[in-house]
Amino acid sequence: MASVILVTGGTGLVGKALQHIIETEPVGSKFGKQPNETWIFLSSSDGDMRDQEQTVKLYEKYKPTHVIHLAALGSFGGLFRNMKYKLTFLRDNILINDNVLHASYTHKTTKLISCLSTCVFPDKVEYPLDENKIHLGPPHESNFGYAHAKRMVDVQNHAYKEEFGCNFTSAIPTNIFGPYDNYDLEDAHVIPALVHKCYLAKKNGTPFIVSGTGKPLRQFIFSYDLAKLFVWMLREYDEVDPLILSVGEDEEVSIKEVADAIVKAVGFEGHYSFDTTRADGQFRKPASNKKLLDRIGGFQFTPFEEALNLSVKWFVENYGVARTGMKKA
Ligand SMILES: NC(=O)c1ccc[n+]([C@@H]2O[C@H](COP(=O)([O-])OP(=O)(O)OC[C@H]3O[C@@H](n4cnc5c(N)ncnc54)[C@H](OP(=O)(O)O)[C@@H]3O)[C@@H](O)[C@H]2O)c1
Repeated sequence: MASVILVTGGTGLVGKALQHIIETEPVGSKFGKQPNETWIFLSSSDGDMRDQEQTVKLYEKYKPTHVIHLAALGSFGGLFRNMKYKLTFLRDNILINDNVLHASYTHKTTKLISCLSTCVFPDKVEYPLDENKIHLGPPHESNFGYAHAKRMVDVQNHAYKEEFGCNFTSAIPTNIFGPYDNYDLEDAHVIPALVHKCYLAKKNGTPFIVSGTGKPLRQFIFSYDLAKLFVWMLREYDEVDPLILSVGEDEEVSIKEVADAIVKAVGFEGHYSFDTTRADGQFRKPASNKKLLDRIGGFQFTPFEEALNLSVKWFVENYGVARTGMKKA
């Protein structure tokens, strides 16, 4: 049977990675496009999904049998923006999610996978994070708007399943990086921010200073690996409960290792140091990928340095079009 797979947020970091995987994996491969499939990647300019009418029009136009729902506001992080726009991130994401979930129900979409984030987890929680701990306490107050909106998707998924039997579920990726990331120095995540800073330091002959001691550990997932896992979920994961999509806890990387790899990939040879007067943030926030490995039965993650090299190469080659927040000459 022919399938139409609609990807909301299809122009962002994860959406572009999905498009790359769909276009480059051989047809018929586990993570590739199947011959009977049409994939549609939506941008906000196709329709503002905060608006119910515009969302319904997209469903009427494309008649999706499957939806991968990535569209979100505030996903590119930046503590400052999350703190400043708590209500906007709460309300806009609630509207987007509610419109997508309800249109998926009314248009009889066979399957919907929404994307959450590890920030949905309680601030005070026993580590490692796992799929059963989402609702055990309030999220960190710095981003409670975005986090609560995302948490509600899990609540709604269960309600749609129980009342209407819908096949809705969600994924929880850890920190994502890859081509098409947001490199705006004002509000980028740690990897794209350091890549951009190091690139500018090389270009301008200035020092490359990394905030903090470099000691905190994080789990990063390469966007192309994540995209493959989404394709696998689409085909094979039919539980309503969320699934953490991450490398293992034993594959945490320190911020110093990240910065070292960036210096190498950028080819930066100037002064490079850590500003230890700046706060470090939490030392670790490990998440377990035990459930993922149990369900998928094994997955080859791209080695961190290889993925980072690829991402840096993309940034350097696409500086003119990347989301840097800077006016291009
Ligand atoms: N980035 C991370 O490290 C991370 C970590 C965990 C989870 N996530 C989750 O992963 C998903 C994808 O994140 P991402 O980093 O790829 O995001 P992104 O790069 O910021 O892209 C966001 C996408 O959402 C679309 N969008 C924004 N507002 C919209 C609206 N009102 N109507 C319709 N579309 C709208 C954007 O379209 P335009 O660009 O055309 O405006 C874009 O395609 C999100 O749900 C996010 O919460 C991200």
